[in-house]
Amino acid sequence: MIPGRNAYRLAEKLSLTTNTPIIHIQRKLFPDGEHYIRIPETEKVKGSTVIVIETMYPRQNDAFIEILMLLDAVRRLNPMKIIIVVPYLAYSRQDKVFLEGEPITGKIVLETILKYTDHMLVYDIHSLKLIEGKTNVKNLLFFDLMVSKILEKTRNPVILAPDKGALHRAKFVAEKLGLEYDYLVKHRDRITGEVTMEPKTLDIKDRDVVIVDDIISTGGTIAKATRRVLESGARRVYVAATHALLINNAIDKLKKAGVEKLYTIDSLGIRHKDSSIEYVDYYGRLWETVLEIVGR
Ligand code: R5P
Repeated sequence: MIPGRNAYRLAEKLSLTTNTPIIHIQRKLFPDGEHYIRIPETEKVKGSTVIVIETMYPRQNDAFIEILMLLDAVRRLNPMKIIIVVPYLAYSRQDKVFLEGEPITGKIVLETILKYTDHMLVYDIHSLKLIEGKTNVKNLLFFDLMVSKILEKTRNPVILAPDKGALHRAKFVAEKLGLEYDYLVKHRDRITGEVTMEPKTLDIKDRDVVIVDDIISTGGTIAKATRRVLESGARRVYVAATHALLINNAIDKLKKAGVEKLYTIDSLGIRHKDSSIEYVDYYGRLWETVLEIVGR
């Protein structure tokens, strides 16, 4: 297993769980800012199945070039198989041209990486559209592991996606754990103009709500959804999100809005220390998927 700069902690956890050796690379930064890497233990790569792991937050652009450099270096050593694990695939929110003149950055990132690898694993990609028809890419969801922890604390829980685009996440976990699910829709009162956000069909009054989402960046989406859900009479709100970037004061925003606790996983090169955040173990599940691919 070869970790990139953002993925050392992740690779160490995985290596401990699975007894897989880590190959450390040499790296340096040239005076003009360009990166250099080299795999010193070349014999370990030749003819082997190599897992390269790098997550694209923080320093998305550096992580991108690092992934390509690692994959190219590995490929030149003739391994048996290359599997790239990119827990957080940056730029995947730009999955279409929203305004004429824009690039589809998510497509550029994904398709460039795919030119260098046999198989790719990502966690909870923002847009399923980006990987449609790509049989060598696997999108892993860990919401059932996060939500199982939350269920220990809840009464009459319901799973909610903050919008229709995130419904597949709510459906995934609800079906796995036998729960009800729905998504939030905006209603505008035609007379007062007041905008409310309510579940499409379910009544959440006096129920505990679990909001699921892929990314929490500024915390704005979840804070708003939480306030609305509490205004609609929900008893308590928990959140499960795969990629907890939590920029600036996002944690305070969530607390102020009334989120009881945020459950997430170690998908980034940073980890937040706060009593309102719990990181859930998922390494066994990841490894099962890697082994499935290795066996193919
Ligand atoms: C949006 O479509 C995503 O799924 C997330 O809901 C969004 O990126 C979260 O961003 P923020 O935390 O800044 O509201």
